[in-house]
Amino acid sequence: MKLLIPTHLPTLRSFLYTACGSICLLFFSCGGDQGGDETLPAGEPPAPKSDTAQVWMAPESAQQVVNPHPSTASSIEKGKAIYLQYCVTCHGADGAAHVPAGMAVKAANLLTATPTQSDGALHWKLLTGRNAMLKISAYGISDEDGWHIINYLRTLTKS
Ligand code: HEC
Repeated sequence: MKLLIPTHLPTLRSFLYTACGSICLLFFSCGGDQGGDETLPAGEPPAPKSDTAQVWMAPESAQQVVNPHPSTASSIEKGKAIYLQYCVTCHGADGAAHVPAGMAVKAANLLTATPTQSDGALHWKLLTGRNAMLKISAYGISDEDGWHIINYLRTLTKS
């Protein structure tokens, strides 16, 4: 037994180095992956996958909030200008979202989605965003202008 070791030692040693090298590489590459996970913001749940099929509901408290801006001609005009600048890309001029960008991101058809919802619920959605629908503050649109947009949206669905 003892005699065998010296003759096999160099081979054994180089084998061990190679094996160790591979294991170390494996270890570090796995470590790298784990490092990627650690960059997720602490305390925040992972963003939901694009799930437009899931019904988007505003909280009960938000549904009760009343639009502080009456639907005057000037409010509607303001809302329309903002809608045409920021929302048509995905929702189309008529709100039906039958436009290439809108179809690509599964934008909601506002003609069918909005009539059953209160102004408060819609305002909450504009402030919150979901999936490709960014919160309006991301476009620099104020909370207040959100109400004007809603007054304009109501004119699209009036029959
Ligand atoms: C980049 C494309 C995009 C833009 C720009 C965009 N939206 Fe959306 N919008 C979406 C998508 C996608 C949804 C569906 C989100 C979901 O259900 O996850 C949505 C949903 C909505 C809803 C909710 C409909 C429902 O199901 O209750 C409203 C209201 C809305 N958008 C209004 C607007 C307004 C107003 C603007 C402009 C300030 C705007 N959107 C800009 C993509 C967009």
